[in-house]
Amino acid sequence: MEFVYDLAVVTHLLGMAAVVGGYVAARPVVSELMVWGARAQLITGLILAGLASGLDSLGKEPDTTKLAVKLVIAIAVAGFAEVGRADAKRGKKVDWMTDAAGGLAIVNVLVAVLWN
Ligand code: HEM
Repeated sequence: MEFVYDLAVVTHLLGMAAVVGGYVAARPVVSELMVWGARAQLITGLILAGLASGLDSLGKEPDTTKLAVKLVIAIAVAGFAEVGRADAKRGKKVDWMTDAAGGLAIVNVLVAVLWN
């Protein structure tokens, strides 16, 4: 099961690269890559949290407050990215929404690494 967990961590890191890289490469527009990265973070993050809390054999003791904060931020990232992308497709430019999604994704990287 540890391999499955590690695989989810890899996917989580690739999703992080997609959302942050997609932001930096395409701003001020929300790219398709950024939207998929934001979706991936929600799904892989929830899988990681579920496995870490549910399986004693993994030996993890996840901080539920930290995970709750990451979840709220990730929902905001996905929301801004989805709406920003839909607007971009209709030719409407809402730059602040791109920056909100990208900025909050970077905040979540900081939370992930610095919150101990
Ligand atoms: C934009 C959204 C997100 C970003 C950018 C992000 C980023 C990261 C990064 C960079 C790491 C690696 C940290 C390290 O190894 O020190 C990480 C780990 C982790 N994340 Fe996220 N995350 C996001 C959303 C979420 C969500 C929604 C959850 C679950 C509620 C979550 C749960 C976890 C867990 C459990 C780990 C630990 C993996 C391990 O065992 O090392 N993440 N995240």
